[in-house]
Amino acid sequence: MMSAVVLVGAQWGDEGKGKITDFLAEKADCVVRYQGGSNAGHTVEVNEEVFMLHLIPSGILYPRTLCLVGNGVAVDMENMLEELDGLKKRGIDTSNLRISKRAPLVMPYHKKIDELEDRTANIGTTRRGIGPTYADKINRVGFRIGDLVDEPAAFVERFKAQVAFKNRIIEEIYQEEGFDYRLLLDQLMDQVGLLKPYLADASLLVYNCIREGKKVLFEGAQGTLLDIDHGTYPFVTSSHPTAGGACVGTGIGPTYINRVLGVAKAYTTRVGEGPFPTELNDATGELLRQRGAEFGTTTGRPRRCGWLDAVVLRYAARVNGLTDLAITKLDVLDTFPRINICVAYHYKGQLLNEFPENSEVLANCNPEYIELPGWQEDISGVTRLEDLPENARRYVAKVEELCGVPSAIVAVGPRRAQTIVQHRLFG
Ligand code: IMP
Repeated sequence: MMSAVVLVGAQWGDEGKGKITDFLAEKADCVVRYQGGSNAGHTVEVNEEVFMLHLIPSGILYPRTLCLVGNGVAVDMENMLEELDGLKKRGIDTSNLRISKRAPLVMPYHKKIDELEDRTANIGTTRRGIGPTYADKINRVGFRIGDLVDEPAAFVERFKAQVAFKNRIIEEIYQEEGFDYRLLLDQLMDQVGLLKPYLADASLLVYNCIREGKKVLFEGAQGTLLDIDHGTYPFVTSSHPTAGGACVGTGIGPTYINRVLGVAKAYTTRVGEGPFPTELNDATGELLRQRGAEFGTTTGRPRRCGWLDAVVLRYAARVNGLTDLAITKLDVLDTFPRINICVAYHYKGQLLNEFPENSEVLANCNPEYIELPGWQEDISGVTRLEDLPENARRYVAKVEELCGVPSAIVAVGPRRAQTIVQHRLFG
């Protein structure tokens, strides 16, 4: 029996996916990252220890789990080596990591261009070179990590031309200093030398796991509304965090996927620019930020906070084909006497029930709320749904009803033990 689960963020990222992935990774034989890169930041707490992962799948904390970085992931070798080093120093065995040879490489010039372009584009990117790396991939002028080891001579020729071209952009348009091609080449070759033992055909490895009936978890980064096609364009990332991305970003077909788990925070946050209808620029928003410790894992930026938006969740259920929900950080709402959920948008005298396709329209939407009573009790020690206060159970049931997806998991704190399981995702 095959058992493959895709885990996706149902909002704008930072839904607490790291914790849920870690929880499921304990049961999984294989954990796969399929998109994004060092822009992601997954925080996992294990036995009082906090791990911040950016590129490496959260499954790495379990020694028997095969961890794959799929072809859809933008790999920054410098970050990858730093992350590996940090894990090894803390006694984590990293020998089960494999990186797709097809993964696009983030080059130092991509990071530079990301920073320069965002000065005018104002997306508020993480400056990790994500957009320029994927742009080069689509434009067919990028480099894959495998290029450096399989046919290095061909790589060097193309690389030399590409650095010269990028230098023209950096020097002539932005009047900044370009890159020395030889220095970059030496650096890249040293880095790939260290990563060589990890390179593999990740598609084949995932396929074999699935065929052998092993439990495979596809770990999405960012979130549905940051998807390059289905998110709030242009305020999005440049990959496909939605469930479809799992197939393209690893090289397996959709018929191998069994379930899609959407991770949704009990309220909403977003980092960077872009529309956010339920944003609270008041004391309530500040309270959510403080209680939820809403500061970016990758950039440290304060996150924008607001009430839960069920229009967003219904949309996420549709575009990802969600079969299950994981509701996280429910405990953050413990102190609120009343809690709002957005159920539709007001836009120029109309009531919109569906998520608009245009970000400018979304920017002019005002939320229609329903109000639920809070529970005003500490729920961080609860381990069974029936032990939650009645109003907390009602809140969970309301969220399920509004998006039409049952919840498999409810999280009431960052630790592994603070997880209420309603039904199992892996056999
Ligand atoms: P980029 O992915 O660095 O190009 O940034 C594009 C947009 O996606 C910005 O608004 C970022 O703040 C946002 N973003 C990228 N990665 C994450 C993440 O892991 N969590 C939340 N937002 C993210």
